[in-house]
Amino acid sequence: MSINRIIQFLKEIRRRYIAGTSYRTNPYIQDGWAQEQAELKKRPRRTEIINYLLDSLNRETEYLEIGVRNPGDNFNHIRATRKYSVDPGLEYDNPEIDFKLTSDEFFAKLRSEALSGAPSKFDVVFIDGLHLADQAFRDIVNSLDFLKDDGFVVMHDCNPPSEFYARETYGFHLSPAGHVWNGTTWKAYCKARLELQVKAHCIDSDWGVGILQISAEKKSFPNLNPFYEFHVLAQHRRELLNLVSFEEFKQQLLSLHR
Ligand SMILES: C[S@@+](CC[C@H](N)C(=O)[O-])C[C@H]1O[C@@H](n2cnc3c(N)ncnc32)[C@H](O)[C@@H]1O
Repeated sequence: MSINRIIQFLKEIRRRYIAGTSYRTNPYIQDGWAQEQAELKKRPRRTEIINYLLDSLNRETEYLEIGVRNPGDNFNHIRATRKYSVDPGLEYDNPEIDFKLTSDEFFAKLRSEALSGAPSKFDVVFIDGLHLADQAFRDIVNSLDFLKDDGFVVMHDCNPPSEFYARETYGFHLSPAGHVWNGTTWKAYCKARLELQVKAHCIDSDWGVGILQISAEKKSFPNLNPFYEFHVLAQHRRELLNLVSFEEFKQQLLSLHR
């Protein structure tokens, strides 16, 4: 190896060392790691919340999950009488998926009655497919169309800790959020809360578990975030998401049944 090649090689090692150190010591990156650790410690997780809602109905139940990935993470642990899974298999090849379709394809077929083996209404629909606002909002509207009157639409990833978790591009992992992606689901949840005839709570756990219930009357809220900007969400999470603890949510649900 020539002396020039050796010098170039050592320079490259130094450059990579500096890049790695400045990445690790960057305050945004360190904040991102701390935020992830804090979120992962919160309880309950989505599975427990969904099972609580199913149990609260106190009858045979039909459960639909949109976006399943590895069923061992959630789907297999759900306690419903009958369960249905929808996933085009983009991230995980699961041969046991009931409907290997996108959610749009699934609901179109359900609407045209071209789908055998699915019920006409569900007790709980869990939306956890494509995490972009326009898709998530369509999933909400479609799910409400096929929800029993006293059922629940549950949404994952409604409370991203920072703008990096709420990025639009899943594939960019060199941010403080690393590979974790809440996407822009929060915008769809907020839009539904503002525009649709639903009651909405977001449990402050497991990246924000949104719960929508069909409501007899439309409550109107001031639109505090007309441009759906992340910094406004960050300042007004409680009001914009109706962010509550699981205990607070359970108390509200119980008070309805009293
Ligand atoms: C975050 S994972 C689901 C995680 C799972 N629900 C859980 O609780 O562990 C997202 C899944 O959505 C699926 N997906 C992506 N686009 C979709 C679409 N348009 N319709 C339905 N599912 C979609 C992906 O294939 C992926 O498996």
